[in-house]
Amino acid sequence: MKVVVTGAAGFIGSSTTDALLAAGHQVVGIDNFSTGSVRFLERAVGEPGFRLATLDLLESGDALPDLFRGADAVIHLAANADVRFGWNTPDRDLKQNIVVTHNVLEGVRVAGVPRLLFSSTGSVYGEATVIPTPEDCPFPIQTSLYGASKLAGEGLIAAYAEGCGITTTVFRFVSIMGARYTHGHVVDFMRQLNEDPTKLTILGDGKQRKSYLDVTDCVAAILDRLPRTGGHEVYNLGVEDYCTVDQSAGWICERLGLRPDVTYTGGDRGWIGDNPFIYLATAKMRAIGWEPAYTIRQAVERTVDYLSNNTWILTRQEVRT
Ligand SMILES: NC(=O)c1ccc[n+]([C@@H]2O[C@H](COP(=O)([O-])OP(=O)(O)OC[C@H]3O[C@@H](n4cnc5c(N)ncnc54)[C@H](O)[C@@H]3O)[C@@H](O)[C@H]2O)c1
Repeated sequence: MKVVVTGAAGFIGSSTTDALLAAGHQVVGIDNFSTGSVRFLERAVGEPGFRLATLDLLESGDALPDLFRGADAVIHLAANADVRFGWNTPDRDLKQNIVVTHNVLEGVRVAGVPRLLFSSTGSVYGEATVIPTPEDCPFPIQTSLYGASKLAGEGLIAAYAEGCGITTTVFRFVSIMGARYTHGHVVDFMRQLNEDPTKLTILGDGKQRKSYLDVTDCVAAILDRLPRTGGHEVYNLGVEDYCTVDQSAGWICERLGLRPDVTYTGGDRGWIGDNPFIYLATAKMRAIGWEPAYTIRQAVERTVDYLSNNTWILTRQEVRT
């Protein structure tokens, strides 16, 4: 297949790109390198089946039909991927997650691409009323601009599926961990411990319950649904488990051989939009044969090992605030 990956230089996008190339697909990767890194594409650029297009999907909508023409699928991963800093720049999620998704959908429609796969998030459930949260859970009030923008993106995708006959798959991920991880609590904790191994500050009370999934398991699910034809579908992706932020901090410190003094900023939420309990039901994806290979603890430990061997990520300029 010929597959376009938006956000190809990002954490999940570069892992998806490498997996597609390894499976014999051709890949056109699109990125503006706002949060992605050219280092994540070092393997891909050496492959004859890979082509990189450096462009901003917000500004370059007109170029997309030409880039998309002849593709069998677009995997749309480019986004503002952070829930935490939404209120610092209140129009960022609107532009990067809604307008960009619309631009991509228009490119898909005009170029006649038959399939689109999309990275949504468990944040769309807000503070869910049913846990583990299934795909058909009623949506309570949205708690973050990020979640609201992803839900709007999902709405546009469903409308294009209905109106233009595009085959669409929406994945709602829990937090993803593993190789090339660049944002989230593990990098935050390791940055702090890099500067001072004796102290660790945890946002909130540390009792927030979270679910994590290794990036290889996430990418396996995306590739699994790639060849499908017809209709609109939605899948949660996560492990059937959760841990507290305190537990995760304990695993990280143990892996690093550190015993820092831990302090808490307090409250049951680390920031506006932090969900105190995320645990997605994944029976729907499991029923079609997908099974994560890694536990939550393994996913966290693999992230620590990766960052320990790639400390440039801990010291690179933070671009997400
Ligand atoms: N990482 C997670 O835990 C997680 C959880 C749920 C959903 N997701 C979703 O998965 C997708 C990938 O997330 P990630 O963690 O790999 O994030 P990331 O920031 O590493 O990757 C996003 C990529 O998109 C690129 N990009 C952003 N805006 C762009 C634009 N206007 N034009 C072109 N390129 C642009 C960035 O440079 C980056 O390479 C996102 O849609 C995110 O919302 C991620």
